Amino acid sequence: MRNIHIIGNWKMNQTLKDIELFFTEFKKATSHTKLQCVYGIAPQALHLGTLQEQNKSKGLSFIIGGQNCHDQDKGAFTGEISPQSLKDFNADFTLIAHSERRAIFNEGHDLIARKVQLALDHNLPVIYCVGETLEERESGKTRDILKEQITAELQKVAPQLQDQIIIAYEPVWAIGTGKTATPSEANQAHADIREILTEDLGWQGKKTIILYGGSVKPENCEELLSCPEIDGALVGGASLKGDSFAKLCLSAQKFY
Ligand code: PGA
Repeated sequence: MRNIHIIGNWKMNQTLKDIELFFTEFKKATSHTKLQCVYGIAPQALHLGTLQEQNKSKGLSFIIGGQNCHDQDKGAFTGEISPQSLKDFNADFTLIAHSERRAIFNEGHDLIARKVQLALDHNLPVIYCVGETLEERESGKTRDILKEQITAELQKVAPQLQDQIIIAYEPVWAIGTGKTATPSEANQAHADIREILTEDLGWQGKKTIILYGGSVKPENCEELLSCPEIDGALVGGASLKGDSFAKLCLSAQKFY
């Protein structure tokens, strides 16, 4: 049985008030259901403790993680987030290599590879993001780009640690744009990723949890989850409100 994961990426959003409202709405919308999927949120790092408190006081089971971490544990790196500190503050995971980190903060293959490695050294599970731009898709390069990212950035991960990594396939052109990859486009990319993991890294690609991300919302979530290669969703905009995020989690119930 697939272990469906619905993970929200809050990016640089949400006030303390928004967070409280989110949890109240989520609790209300799911109070009659025992959710089967794994559900989680990556808030701003400052808010980790707030979410952990809300989670506990409302009797919920969110996994809560970081959105990014540095490639070193400590030192003169003003403004960075240490993976060791994420672990100290009981983060359940961290995102690495989100396309906004790649594009806005110029994160390249070597840096990403080091970040992944260090997070794993701390037993901090990683949600690692890959995806192509519109130009790359239109010139038929999607598989090549996925292969380039994965082989350069995950090559040092020992196959026995593969279960510490979830992959999020997020086509850059679908993030925050309202454009979603069609279920068959997403399914194909996920199948390609499994093949790359197996052939190029020696992993058991069929076992890796692969999430789709890019304008997932309550209206399209079920259709995407019904694809055989898609194990869940990484969600930005539609994860910010508790009732919307609850709908995403509830749409996974069908698949158990
Ligand atoms: P979106 O963002 O759902 O708003 O498109 C997804 C993401 O950036 O992870």
